[in-house]
Amino acid sequence: MKITYFGHSCFEVIVNGVYILFDPFIQPNELAKDIKLSAIKADFIIVSHGHADHTADLITLAKQTGATVIANFEIIEWVKKYGIKAVHPMNTGGQFDFSFGTIKSVFAAHSSSLPDGSYGGNPNGYIIRAANKTLYYAGDTALTNEMKLIGEFEDVNLAILPIGDNFTMGIADATIASEFIQCNQIVGMHYDTFPPIKIDHQKAIDTFKEKGLTLQLLTIGQTIAI
Ligand code: NI
Ligand code: MN
Repeated sequence: MKITYFGHSCFEVIVNGVYILFDPFIQPNELAKDIKLSAIKADFIIVSHGHADHTADLITLAKQTGATVIANFEIIEWVKKYGIKAVHPMNTGGQFDFSFGTIKSVFAAHSSSLPDGSYGGNPNGYIIRAANKTLYYAGDTALTNEMKLIGEFEDVNLAILPIGDNFTMGIADATIASEFIQCNQIVGMHYDTFPPIKIDHQKAIDTFKEKGLTLQLLTIGQTIAI
């Protein structure tokens, strides 16, 4: 499983030859100005919730790539209004076996509305099980007790967690989340993009280290493999 960071909460995951894109927000993100939208490939686009910092480039990229959009029912209904036909609605707690692996939609504690103000349904995180690896992408979320269920029933190799505070959990809560999900390999997201979520990188890495956890803060465009 190869994971590339496109800034904010946007990641590309390549597994079993399939390109999966999470929460496309590239063009409005000054920090991601070196990422070329026209060069992005996707077979699937997974959306955690409706907020613009997760959906700004969704319609453009769905049209450009022909990818199947995976999101909750309400977001899929919104996407269909733009003529996107390749869709796969899911909802919290549901999982589905795709060609490349299994995706499970899990609980996230946040809010969700679409850029046009329409109701976005419940926000979600997603678990991908493929190629003998398990990836947990938390979406925008607070620290929640439900994360203990992931620790109990999943064998997470890598977790992508929000750490920017203010809109989501911050660094301290994210270390507790890591313990709840029983995963010591963490990639941070949802930080630095806006003034209220700017973080001290070294302090964040050290805070995780003190608890025996590894936090990676990827540079935009960087790829890692698990
Ligand atoms: Ni949000
Ligand atoms: Mn957000």
